[in-house]
Amino acid sequence: MKLFRPLTIKQTTIRNRVVMAPMCQYQADHQGFVQPWHLTHYSSRAVGGVGLIIVEATGIEARGRLSGSCLGVYHDEHVEGLRQIARWGKMHGAVMGIQLSHGGRKGHGPDLIGPSPISADPQRYPVPRPVAESDMGSLLQLWRQAARRAREAEFDMIQLHGAHGYLLHSFLSPLANRRQDGYGGSPANRRRLLLEVVEAVQEEWPAERLLSVRLSAVDYLPDGLSLDDTIATVKALKAAGVDLIDISSGGILPAVINAYPGYQVPLAAAVKAAVDMPTVAVGQLDAVDLAESVVASGDADFAALGRALLRDPHWVLRVAEQDPAVPWPQSYERARRNV
Ligand SMILES: Cc1cc2nc3c(=O)[nH]c(=O)nc-3n(C[C@H](O)[C@H](O)[C@H](O)COP(=O)(O)O)c2cc1C
Repeated sequence: MKLFRPLTIKQTTIRNRVVMAPMCQYQADHQGFVQPWHLTHYSSRAVGGVGLIIVEATGIEARGRLSGSCLGVYHDEHVEGLRQIARWGKMHGAVMGIQLSHGGRKGHGPDLIGPSPISADPQRYPVPRPVAESDMGSLLQLWRQAARRAREAEFDMIQLHGAHGYLLHSFLSPLANRRQDGYGGSPANRRRLLLEVVEAVQEEWPAERLLSVRLSAVDYLPDGLSLDDTIATVKALKAAGVDLIDISSGGILPAVINAYPGYQVPLAAAVKAAVDMPTVAVGQLDAVDLAESVVASGDADFAALGRALLRDPHWVLRVAEQDPAVPWPQSYERARRNV
């Protein structure tokens, strides 16, 4: 199966095309520190054969976390625990990524920031305070320092969270960004913060390691982001040196989303066809035949699994039981051969 063939991007070889999608565990302490849960959870999926593990949304500042129990990467003291996650995962053969995140108007606490004073959902979130143009430098510094800590924590890949209505997506989408300064209005201005974040991160992130961005390709609302807008963004990201694009959707404002197995694959396929760069598809790809067809058809290079890997940390070993290309941990061989 093509799903189990390795792929090398730059100098990093990923042993197969199965990605563990970033998923908040809500298990950090109130200061964002790694707990034994995280080590057990992520290393289990590495033992289970996943090619690339992307550690959950990890806040670049306290109010940028998505809850009071999300991981943080905003103190130097956070590095040690994160390094253990990276080392344990790599020890078991996975390539380890971390999703750097700022929740913006869907963040944590009373003092939320955003592009414009527009709530993400008046029932759940306060109206955010717009980031002043003069504060952009300190915002970029938070991303830069988070990238330095991710480097010190020995991750192989950074993924910037540019999806699901969080800070970077909210600047991209005209539904959340009504600014009239250099960070709003035209598509290029709305893209500017994301591209400046890429540049800031690259100042601390070694060129040989991987840089990924996750985007919401569409907002599912009139006047929201369209696939064409997103393709233009991905072209700019590729030109800026981003290595891997991860295509999700939605989250800017409440919307009706018709989700079914593979529903976001056409979005990833359209991006890949237009931009020709390594691409991750995600969304109910639990059926192995579906995951294989996504990769074998070339719609995407990787199939990311979220909930399927919560249900079964050994999803890869199980579906590849008959495939000699997938080694099982030696200690489990008797279970494979059932002797
Ligand atoms: C418990 C849970 C937590 C999640 N946390 C994140 C996150 O931290 N960052 C992110 O980009 N997406 C997050 N997601 C979305 C997943 O990465 C994924 O895109 C989504 O679950 C669809 O994939 P699936 O159908 O295979 O679960 C989360 C999803 C779940 C179920």
